[in-house]
Amino acid sequence: MDAAPLPLDVDHLKPHPARAYDYYLGGKDNFEADRELGRRTEEVWPTVRVFARENREFMRRAVHYLAAEEGIGQYLDIGSGVPTAPNVHEIAQRELPGSRVVYVDNDPLVISHARSLLRSGPEGRAGYLYADIRQPEAIIAGASEVLDFSRPVAVLLIAVLHFVADEWDPQAILGTLLKALPSGSFLAASQITDEHDAATIGAAADLYREATGKPARARRARAFEELAFTSQGLRIVDPGVVLVSEWRDEARLRPSAADVSCYGAVGRKP
Ligand SMILES: C[S@@+](CC[C@H](N)C(=O)[O-])C[C@H]1O[C@@H](n2cnc3c(N)ncnc32)[C@H](O)[C@@H]1O
Repeated sequence: MDAAPLPLDVDHLKPHPARAYDYYLGGKDNFEADRELGRRTEEVWPTVRVFARENREFMRRAVHYLAAEEGIGQYLDIGSGVPTAPNVHEIAQRELPGSRVVYVDNDPLVISHARSLLRSGPEGRAGYLYADIRQPEAIIAGASEVLDFSRPVAVLLIAVLHFVADEWDPQAILGTLLKALPSGSFLAASQITDEHDAATIGAAADLYREATGKPARARRARAFEELAFTSQGLRIVDPGVVLVSEWRDEARLRPSAADVSCYGAVGRKP
């Protein structure tokens, strides 16, 4: 179901965002070049691991909410990242055992690991698609082998929009993805922001652009809300656009806004 053939070789000398993120989460699916980028990022953004953990927890709470409270049993996880337990299908299938998930990423290592590691529960189904978010039509076509687009689907764009340059017209990309979904579908998204510490996040973004050759783009709350939700006609559910650490979490001692520097929200297609 791939939009492009999976390359046989993974370039392990060039750092990749998926594997640097795996390094922040304490995973083992990263190479020296990724760890080097990770260490250099920690020098300029010492709490980048706090961001990674809080973002992952946001994903867990968002999928739990969608499955348990909204009854959503189909997920299209774009920019899914190196498998890290609990993965989307595990969270959803705990609530709704027949849940189906398609994992999409443009890192071939992510997709080859997902294929070998992510086994769906017996009643559900999981699919793996090697594709770039810039190919929304191909993503929908590939995912439709597993997902039924006549029933509600939740698209997950968790910590991937900051790798989408404005020049790529992210509004149009999102528009194409969301147009394929019926009413009652959802979008859950998170996005790094420089709103609370512009110097730190600016330095980390510069480092990523230079090391990976890929875009790295922080957005403020208003811009994120407009891009992902308002301009797409989605209704944002409570509590709105907030720091990922604050989204539907129990009261607890939270890290500072600057330490997290990432917004999250969930919206429903009317
Ligand atoms: C920071 S990780 C987030 C992983 C996971 N969604 C999470 O939040 O735990 C970003 C992921 O987006 C993927 N990615 C970056 N640019 C992409 C693009 N243009 N198309 C598809 N995936 C992309 C990376 O390979 C990486 O796996």
